[in-house]
Amino acid sequence: MTDPLLALRPWEAPEVTSWGRLPMNAVDRRTGAHSLDGDWRFRLLSAPDAPVGGPWSTATVPGVWTMQGTDDLPQYLNIRMPYAEFPPLSPPVNPTGVYEREIDVPAEWAGRRIVLQVGAAESVLLVHVDGRPVGVSKDSHLAAEFDLSDVVRPGGRSVLRLTVVKWSDASHIEDQDHWWHGGITRSVLLYATDPLQLADVTVRAGQDGALRVDCRVRDAGGGALPEGWYVSGDLDGLPVTQDAAFDLANAEDERVSDFLGEARLTARVPEVRTWTAETPELYGLIVRLHRADGTVADTSRHRVGFRDVEIVGRDLLVNGERIFVRGVNRHDFHPLTGRTVSYDDMRADLVLLKRFGFNAIRTAHYPNDPTLYDLADELGFYVVDEADIESHDHAHEIADDPRYLNAFVDRVSRMVLRDKNHPSVIIWSLGNESDYGANHDAAAGWVRRHDPTRPLQYEGAAKRGWADPELASDIACPMYAPLEDCVAHALSGQQTKPLIQCEYSHAMGNSNGTLADHWAAIEATPGLQGGFIWEFWDHGILQSVNEDGRPVGRGGAGLYDNGVAAPGYRWAYGGDFGEKDHDGAFIADGVVFPDRTPKPVMYEHRELAAPLRLQGFRHEGLVLSNHQHFRGLEWLAGEWELSLAHGGTLTATAELPDLRPGETTVVPLPFALPEDGGEAWLTLRVTTAQDLPWAPRGTQVCAPQVQLRAAAPAEEPVGSGRVEIDADGLLVHPLLTAAPTLSLWRAPTDNDELGGMALRWRTWGLDSLVRKLLSVHQEGDGVTVLSEYAGTTGVVRHRQVFTPVEGGVRIDEQAELPEEFDDVARVGSVFETVAGLDLLEWFGQGPWESYPDRSGGAPVGHHSVPVDELFTPYLRPQESGGRHGVRRFTLSAPDATGLAVTLDEPRQVSVTRYRAEDLTAVSHHDELLPRAGCVVHLDAAHRGLGTASCGPDTFPSYLVAPGVHRWSWTLRVL
Ligand code: GAL
Ligand code: MG
Repeated sequence: MTDPLLALRPWEAPEVTSWGRLPMNAVDRRTGAHSLDGDWRFRLLSAPDAPVGGPWSTATVPGVWTMQGTDDLPQYLNIRMPYAEFPPLSPPVNPTGVYEREIDVPAEWAGRRIVLQVGAAESVLLVHVDGRPVGVSKDSHLAAEFDLSDVVRPGGRSVLRLTVVKWSDASHIEDQDHWWHGGITRSVLLYATDPLQLADVTVRAGQDGALRVDCRVRDAGGGALPEGWYVSGDLDGLPVTQDAAFDLANAEDERVSDFLGEARLTARVPEVRTWTAETPELYGLIVRLHRADGTVADTSRHRVGFRDVEIVGRDLLVNGERIFVRGVNRHDFHPLTGRTVSYDDMRADLVLLKRFGFNAIRTAHYPNDPTLYDLADELGFYVVDEADIESHDHAHEIADDPRYLNAFVDRVSRMVLRDKNHPSVIIWSLGNESDYGANHDAAAGWVRRHDPTRPLQYEGAAKRGWADPELASDIACPMYAPLEDCVAHALSGQQTKPLIQCEYSHAMGNSNGTLADHWAAIEATPGLQGGFIWEFWDHGILQSVNEDGRPVGRGGAGLYDNGVAAPGYRWAYGGDFGEKDHDGAFIADGVVFPDRTPKPVMYEHRELAAPLRLQGFRHEGLVLSNHQHFRGLEWLAGEWELSLAHGGTLTATAELPDLRPGETTVVPLPFALPEDGGEAWLTLRVTTAQDLPWAPRGTQVCAPQVQLRAAAPAEEPVGSGRVEIDADGLLVHPLLTAAPTLSLWRAPTDNDELGGMALRWRTWGLDSLVRKLLSVHQEGDGVTVLSEYAGTTGVVRHRQVFTPVEGGVRIDEQAELPEEFDDVARVGSVFETVAGLDLLEWFGQGPWESYPDRSGGAPVGHHSVPVDELFTPYLRPQESGGRHGVRRFTLSAPDATGLAVTLDEPRQVSVTRYRAEDLTAVSHHDELLPRAGCVVHLDAAHRGLGTASCGPDTFPSYLVAPGVHRWSWTLRVL
């Protein structure tokens, strides 16, 4: 007999969103449930209707089979669907995983309602018990529940089969920009309830301490509820009582039938501790459903945060305050499992974000694992919860296709039904990149009616008009909008909605230029409230390079460190699994590496989010302000640090003033500034004063800095030495293996490549300039060398004047760029050193990597970093390791010999083991062969990074202009 579930071909029927699935609800059944996680029998079929034959293998649940040794490997595509069939069709070859295991149903579950919960399966789930069809579900990132009471026997054993079809009509609306996988990605549970059960619980808790809990009660048979049931509640010891007025109204209302039980609990909490991302105060709520005799039939536990979210005018307010949204987009990702994330992983994600100043998460682009929201409530994050709808490749067709109407409403409503009780969720999102159509309006209508307590947003709607009240978005939530457009909108007088970018500052490779400019504008412009950086992760999958592109999957932990995969492994990106169609390294666009090591941008972000600001230095003292929305400075400790260019660093404990949110005060200078010592910088190193859930005491929170004294112009005493220049006009120096020459090229960043700059630079021949010596001119002890660097379309004249100075040589350089080279990567000197100079010490910005348009979080001071640790291992090798604002540095061997360089002004410097051409030649970090010596760049000018791989390029002020550039530096031997 044909299986009715197969006969229905639900994988090509968008109208069928489920069959036999229980309604979504917010009652958490995880505690007390039986876990069905672990090893299951597994077969991978070539199509859902292929015969199930052959030997079983084993698969881990939860997990994707694409990471578990099957022939069906991960594939990365951004927009394009991986097959040509139009919606709602799927390709004939359609990997289908059949998972099977026995389930033992406890005898004591007799008389109870027995429910199977499948945490998430992509993209169609078919459930059979002992060969009998039980149900169907779609919606790959939400749980599906099925009532098994009629198909299993308490005390008996049954065979549970979960069939997961990879490609379906649903894949066309799950076309998000990440890896395609197949499998069961979240836990599978079996639990039992009393037939009389809490079918749903809706908690509303306001800033004023008012609590309202709406309960839906059902009896398993679906018939009338037994007489006399009631509910009770307890909020951290405070009784929460059934609202008699509500009951009375229901009793009199003939619409309310007695098979659908409704009851309301209410309480008012005196002196309530309100919930915000800064103050994530939670109360424990227990809701009990009683039988008439008072015994408890069902219990539901919740953590309640009292808070209000509203839009007033064009401002998004939390508890009446206009907050800033310092957000990031987060996928459920893990380099070993692909999709499955553990509690510890999610906690580590959020702890890291918290430590780096983030206060918001957009669950791009589907509801994340349920635990994520628990952690967001607990640690303090504002969440934009996004439904699993992205039809990117066929967006326009699907948005108005009535066959998909069900799916849109189903996905949005199920998300809301699951997550509505989380205080962290402050905004609902209808999905991503799916054009805008009637299906969206239908879903929006459902949300607005069901949950009027939160705004909703949808970028596809907002795009039609940031201020248009008719569109299904309460927020103007563009992606990658130019900053000037945002500011202009806020100043236009036309703004009607809060402007919070759902995606901005694309973190692909060495990126996130102009983040500080964005935040300066956001904080200075009423109407702008922040945004969500794209994105948290680099989705690099750990891959054994010897094993023919196999994901390592299970058991690979520990095979990476500090962002780098161990020898023999690499971070795979698009194309590394032999996919013909793929989008390459576009999947590596996060602010953390695949092992969660923070990229340098994180340090800048931390500083931009500083809760305590050092606004400047006036005659009478230092201006300090509390930049938070809801709390004082009690949780912080401070230390003053005075860095003198010619002197050391002095420290003193800082007494932090008592400042309420938004307040400013002036404190006296903690040090008398020494007369000598040159340029002086004062830093307030701010740390956590006590252990917090997300940071032990002493964790750095920010380090705002002010300059107390500028550098005095340096006088170089003339020396008596000789400068040796070879026949090619190049400096001869015992510590240099390659003399300083002119460089206009950097290994293109992802932004340079995708933004088209690298192509232009290559066309101009900047990667292979041909140097021609014009003249060498001796004058006294000094030498002037004139040369020309020819590209394919222009010639750069370069002059180096070498002058002996005490202990070394000063090099005054000038480069004249022709008009056509109107935007180059850098203008500066490059040279290489002998091996053994392995420590860089400098006075300037640091210690982490910084660039002209991404240097906000790198304070000026004395820094010291081993050369091997200066380089940032972006997945696709590219320009990296730069340090901005360097005044002078030494490169030394362990015996303290080496060289010292003094720069005429703060300059961009990089010291790495790689030439630009080494980096350009390879596609993965593991292919790089470090050189023994150092490759040193000193730049008169260095182009900003921008974010042109997806979004705006850097600002004109960070471009390198044509014309004359001058710089000088002194090279000495230590
Ligand atoms: C956005 C999209 C994201 C991602 C990003 C680029 O358009 O919403 O999913 O593709 O661009 O990395
Ligand atoms: Mg997309």
